[in-house]
Amino acid sequence: MSRTYAVIGWPLGHSLSPIIQQAALSSMNLDAKYIALPTPPGEESARFDDLRQGKLDGLNITIPHKQTAFNVVDAHTSEAAVLGAVNTIVRDGPYLRGHNTDLYGFDQALRTFGSFDPTGVQAVVLGAGGSARAIVYALGLANARSIVLANRTSVNAHALVTAMATAMDMSIEVRALDDQQLQEDIAASTLLVNTTSVGMAGGPAPDQSPVPKNWLHDQLLVFDIVYRPVLTPLVSHAQAAGSRTLGGLEMLVLQGAASFRQWTKQEPPVDLMLKVGRRALANDLHNGAN
Ligand code: ATR
Repeated sequence: MSRTYAVIGWPLGHSLSPIIQQAALSSMNLDAKYIALPTPPGEESARFDDLRQGKLDGLNITIPHKQTAFNVVDAHTSEAAVLGAVNTIVRDGPYLRGHNTDLYGFDQALRTFGSFDPTGVQAVVLGAGGSARAIVYALGLANARSIVLANRTSVNAHALVTAMATAMDMSIEVRALDDQQLQEDIAASTLLVNTTSVGMAGGPAPDQSPVPKNWLHDQLLVFDIVYRPVLTPLVSHAQAAGSRTLGGLEMLVLQGAASFRQWTKQEPPVDLMLKVGRRALANDLHNGAN
């Protein structure tokens, strides 16, 4: 029986997930399709009903529905519980189980494609939204030594720290993005992760870097989870400063691969998924899409 998987979110824009997931399903000759279902706020409960009734077989959930998804499922993993957010739902009959594969996607991208073991390091994380929360938790689980969390709006950074306090036994320092102290924090760190939308095509500040280029250095791995464009201003400054760099596509593919495993119980072709993701992003350049 043919299966249907889907991603819901708003706006979904040029989501890469359908291209990446469909390539994986087709290459394995699975009788299944993966579609994009743009879903404005207020319409997500109809999608969850469709899933429960078997019109859909599995869902990926992106902004702004991850918290609602968490509340809708019958059970969830411990990671999803800590984050209060679900990005993958697996259906077993009418029973829905929620996962959060963002955490795994970040951790595995860092280790596999960044050759970076976060154990014992000091990391700076920029941003305090849902992605930052998953990344801070992933670094906590990996026993990073300390985290400096820098955000434009300090109340949001403090809210993240408070929300994670019970789950993590680690001190997290909070800074403003324009705090001079942040320069010293970055100088003393080996990992800098950007989770803000600064530098993202179509975002609020596509031509800007979240931190000045002279704050970057050659002992740093700069991981920008933005994947559109591939070369964000931050990644380009980091390369000029001699930092190693990692973009967001690897994380997107690995979190998608984790969803795929949950749905199909099979091992997805990660190299192929990366290849089609890279090709789609390269086509953005030709088509002027963002
Ligand atoms: P995600 O789920 O991807 O983390 P989000 O929850 O919308 O997305 O979080 C967006 C992040 O980008 C926030 O940290 C936001 O900062 P604020 O808490 O100050 O809003 C950050 N961000 C968005 N636009 C920004 C800008 N122009 N300058 C600096 N930070 C920005």
